[in-house]
Amino acid sequence: MSKDIYLTGITTTGTPHIGNYVGAIRPGIEASKDLTTKHFYFLADYHSLAKNEDPDRIVQSTLEIAAAWMALGLDTEHAYFYRQSDIPEILELTWILHGMTGKGLMNRAHSYKASVQANVESGNKDPDKGVMMALYSYPILMAADILMFKSTKVPVGQDQKQHVEMARDIAQRFNHNYRETFVLPEAVIGENTAVLKGLDGRKMSKSYDNTIPLFAPEKRLRKLIMKIKTNSQEPGEPKDTEGNTLFDIYKAFATPAETAEIAAAYANGIAWGEMKQRLFEYINEHIKPAREEYDRLIADPGVVEAELQKGAERAREISVPYLAEIRDAVGIRKLG
Ligand code: TRP
Repeated sequence: MSKDIYLTGITTTGTPHIGNYVGAIRPGIEASKDLTTKHFYFLADYHSLAKNEDPDRIVQSTLEIAAAWMALGLDTEHAYFYRQSDIPEILELTWILHGMTGKGLMNRAHSYKASVQANVESGNKDPDKGVMMALYSYPILMAADILMFKSTKVPVGQDQKQHVEMARDIAQRFNHNYRETFVLPEAVIGENTAVLKGLDGRKMSKSYDNTIPLFAPEKRLRKLIMKIKTNSQEPGEPKDTEGNTLFDIYKAFATPAETAEIAAAYANGIAWGEMKQRLFEYINEHIKPAREEYDRLIADPGVVEAELQKGAERAREISVPYLAEIRDAVGIRKLG
């Protein structure tokens, strides 16, 4: 039995899109089928506060992301599936970790530095203009998420690697200062998880507003796929598959044999319009059953809520006694 504990957090700021699906949701659900490892998946709703989201948007996003994982078949009997804010121990731990986190370490966080950089570039007198403490301490909250469940492996994108390293630094410092309490986590960067491009050819991302929602209704899905940017090559002209958005998306869903067939069609000069139609049909067929389940869940949020409550209850069987140990280690205890 491997002792590895995997943990994945998803910030509740958007609607799941096909880039999230191939990059995180599908590999996450696949990985959770390995019964020799433990898996934690949670909705990082407190993290969403650092991004100044509209309150209703956070609720809606929580529902959509949770429903997506459930509809796609996450095994919630084995995997721990919960909402961050239902585990109060995470917030308590966040404050305890504040005592072990150098301000200088946070000064080096990429997301904070990017905000400062933007202020400097736009000629603002205050480099910290608009920077909330929730953004500044974001890596500490993330460290608490990770350390709370003794995670050893944290699958993340390249942009989050630094945060996992910070969690490791903070844990090390704590273990040294008090006593051996935390397990040191390690970032796992998916090498073969595809990064998809969006409608405009840039990386598919909510921030670029170029996404294709995974469970868009059929008509909308078709419309969006038809909008994907292509070049001016004519039907009959052989086309390059390399770096082609339509091809890459197709490949992310299809089997190798089907992908080879499409590559041959490119060489034979398939028209962009026809390729778009084929891509639409393929994705639509592929996600139809999950979309039906997703729509049922969205219409019945109580079912999703009950699942999250069940997950929180299981997770707290771990976090409650562990936090008691941590509090004891730092001297937050009853007298006598
Ligand atoms: N910050 C991560 C992101 O934006 C989400 C996240 C929050 C997370 N807590 C985590 C990821 C803990 C991994 C582990 O993608």
